[in-house]
Amino acid sequence: MSGSFAPGRLLLGGDWSPEQWDPATWDEDVELLREVRANTVSLGIFSWSSLEPEEGRFETAWLDEVLDRLDMAGIGYFLSTPTASPPPWFSLAHPDALPVRPDGVRLTHGSRDTYAVSAPAYREASRRIARLLGERYGDRPGLRGWHLHNEYGTLDHGPHAARAFRAWLRARYGTVEALNRAWCTAFWSQGYSSFAEVEPPRATQYLPNPSQAIDFRRFSSDEMRAALREQREEIRAAGSQAPVTTNYMLPTWNHLEQWSWADELDVVSLDHYLDTAGPDAEAHVAYGSDLARSWSGGPWVLMEQNATGIKVDGRTLAKSPERMLRHSLGYIARGSQSSLFFQWRQSAGGAEQWHGALVPHAGRDSRAFRGVRRLGEVLESLAPVAALPEEGPLVEAEVGLLWHADGWWALETPDLPSAQLRYGEEQRATHRSFHRAGIPTDFVRPLADVSRYRLLVLTCQYPLSDAEVTWLEEYVEGGGHLVVTYLSGLADEHLHVATGGYPGRLRELLGVRGEEILPLPAREVVTLDDGTVAEEWTELLAATDAEVLARYTHADLAGLPAITRARRGAGTATYVSARWTQESRDTWLRAAAQELGIGPTLPGAAERGLEAVRRRGHGVDHLFLLHHGDRTVRVQAKGTDLVSGASAAPGLAVPAGGVAVLSLPPGTAARLLP
Ligand code: GAL
Repeated sequence: MSGSFAPGRLLLGGDWSPEQWDPATWDEDVELLREVRANTVSLGIFSWSSLEPEEGRFETAWLDEVLDRLDMAGIGYFLSTPTASPPPWFSLAHPDALPVRPDGVRLTHGSRDTYAVSAPAYREASRRIARLLGERYGDRPGLRGWHLHNEYGTLDHGPHAARAFRAWLRARYGTVEALNRAWCTAFWSQGYSSFAEVEPPRATQYLPNPSQAIDFRRFSSDEMRAALREQREEIRAAGSQAPVTTNYMLPTWNHLEQWSWADELDVVSLDHYLDTAGPDAEAHVAYGSDLARSWSGGPWVLMEQNATGIKVDGRTLAKSPERMLRHSLGYIARGSQSSLFFQWRQSAGGAEQWHGALVPHAGRDSRAFRGVRRLGEVLESLAPVAALPEEGPLVEAEVGLLWHADGWWALETPDLPSAQLRYGEEQRATHRSFHRAGIPTDFVRPLADVSRYRLLVLTCQYPLSDAEVTWLEEYVEGGGHLVVTYLSGLADEHLHVATGGYPGRLRELLGVRGEEILPLPAREVVTLDDGTVAEEWTELLAATDAEVLARYTHADLAGLPAITRARRGAGTATYVSARWTQESRDTWLRAAAQELGIGPTLPGAAERGLEAVRRRGHGVDHLFLLHHGDRTVRVQAKGTDLVSGASAAPGLAVPAGGVAVLSLPPGTAARLLP
C-alpha cells in the first residue's frame, strides 16, 4: 500500500461497457464524457467473453479502438482484469471451476461471479488474461491503474476449496491434534484423525462448528488474496508499473480481511451503495469513506456509487442531483481522489438495466445528466484538493474505532446469546454517534500503532487474541482511553469463550466480572441511572476493580453496574455492558469525547445539518462544508471557497442543500456565524 495515490486532479467518471454498444455510441460517449469534464472510466470489468471468445483466441481490436478514442480525448482509465465473470466456454470446459454452495449445489454460468477461486483452471486462465492485458496495455498513457477483478467475494465450498482449505489449516495448526483443540471438536464427536477428513463448512444437520466457520472465512479471504496477488504479479511481470487496486464492497457483505488486502494494493478502492434514503445516508457516506481511507492508509478511490438511486427494500428511491453532489464531496472530503460511478451509460439490456447511471435511458436531456455536468464543474474547481499533504494524515482524527474482519465473521456464527446484533450495524451505530457530533474518526487495524488516538472504541469485537489483548492493555497503560462495548472480548481467536466471568479476555483490564448475559426481549428498553436507555443487551455484572459510572435500574439488575471505568497506568478502560439506543449512544460518546477535549471540526455545525470535514492538502487545508440542513448557514474563515470563488472572510453563506470548500492556511480556524 502506498498511501500516495495522487492523480493530479479529482477523478470523475464511471464503469463504461463499450462491449454493450456500437462504435457510434462509443463516439457519443466520448463526447458526453468530455462535455461533463469526466476524466476517467473503468472498463473491461465484465469483458472476458468479448476479449477471449474461445479458449486461447483473443480479440483485442475493439479494446484497442476504444482506448485509442479515450487517449485522443485525454480521458484516463482503470483497466480491469475480467476475471469476475468467466465466459460460458470456460465453465463448460472446466466444470470443476464452478463454485459449490454449502448445500452442495454447483452453480452454473448465466450470471456473474461464478468461479471457484481455488480451481487450478480458473487461476491459470486468470493469470493468462492478466498477462495478456498487462503486455498489451500496461504502458498506455491513459492508464490510471489496474482494477484487478471486481469485488472478490464468491465463496466456494467444493472439492478444490476443500483441498486448499486443508493445506491452509495444516499451515496454521501443524498437527491435527492442534486443529482438534482449536476447533473444540470434542463437542458433538467431531474429532478428526487426519486433515484429509476436514471439509469446508457445508450443509449439515444442525449448527455448524463456529471455529471451523471462522477459519473458513479467513481461509477464503487468504485464498482470494492469493489469486489477486498472482494477477498483480502477471501485470508487473509484463512490465506495467501502473498502480494496482481491487474494489472492496460495502455494506452488505464482507468476504475480505481488508487490512491485509490493502498491503497488496497501491490504493484501496471502494464500491459504496447506500441502504437508506433517509438522513442516515449522509452518515453512511462518512462511514464508508472513513473505512476506505483507514484501510488505504491515505487517499483512496471511490470506484462506484449510484448516480441517481438508492435501493431500499427492492425499490429504487430517488437520489437528487444535489444530494449526489453532496455525497460525492462527502467521499472526497474524507480522502477519496474520485467520484466514480456504476455506471456511465445505463444498460438497455441485461440484469442491471434499471441500475442508475450518469447517462440514463433518457439520455443527455435529463436531470441526471445535468447533475453530472454540475458535478464536473465543481470537481474541476476542486482540482487542488487532490494534492496530498507532505506528511501526516489526510484527515486528523483523535478517535479510533477498531475494525476487525474477525469480529464480523464471529458475529455471523450461529447461536450467540442474541442473533440480533450485526457487526456492520454495530460499527455504524458507533461511527454514526461521532458523525452526528461532527467529530472525525479513523478506523484502526488490530495491533496498529494507536498512540495518536486519545480515544479508542471497541464495538462488539467478540474474539480477541492474546496479542490483541496485550495491545489494548499497553494502549491504556500508556495513557489511552479505551471504551469497550458489550459483546467484546468474550472469546479468543478460535471462538472459545474465556471462562471465569465475562468478558473473559478483558476482565482484568476492565476491572469487571460478568456472570450472565441477558439479552432483552424485542422492543423492550431499560433505563440506566445516568438517564441513558438500552435495548437488546444487558449483563449481570460486578465491578471488581473499577468505578461504576452508571447502574441498571430495572428488574433484578436494579442497582448493579452497567457502565464502569477502570484506571490503568496513565489511561482508562471503560466498559459498557448494555446496548444503548442510538440517541443514548450519541449522548454518551459525545460527552466522553468532550471530557477528553475532543471536539467537532466546526463547533455548532452538525446541530444545524452542516457537515464540516477538514481534508489536509499540500500546504493548505480544505474545509468541506456540505449542508444537509434546511436553513442557510454562514461560516467565517480566512479563506476562499473554491466552488464559488467567494471569500469567506466576511462570512460565507451556504444555502440549504449547498456545498462550499474553503481553502485555508493549515490549521486556521473557521467559525459558524450566529
Ligand atoms: C457493484 C458491482 C457493479 C454493479 C453494481 C450495481 O457491486 O461491482 O458491477 O453490479 O454493484 O449493482
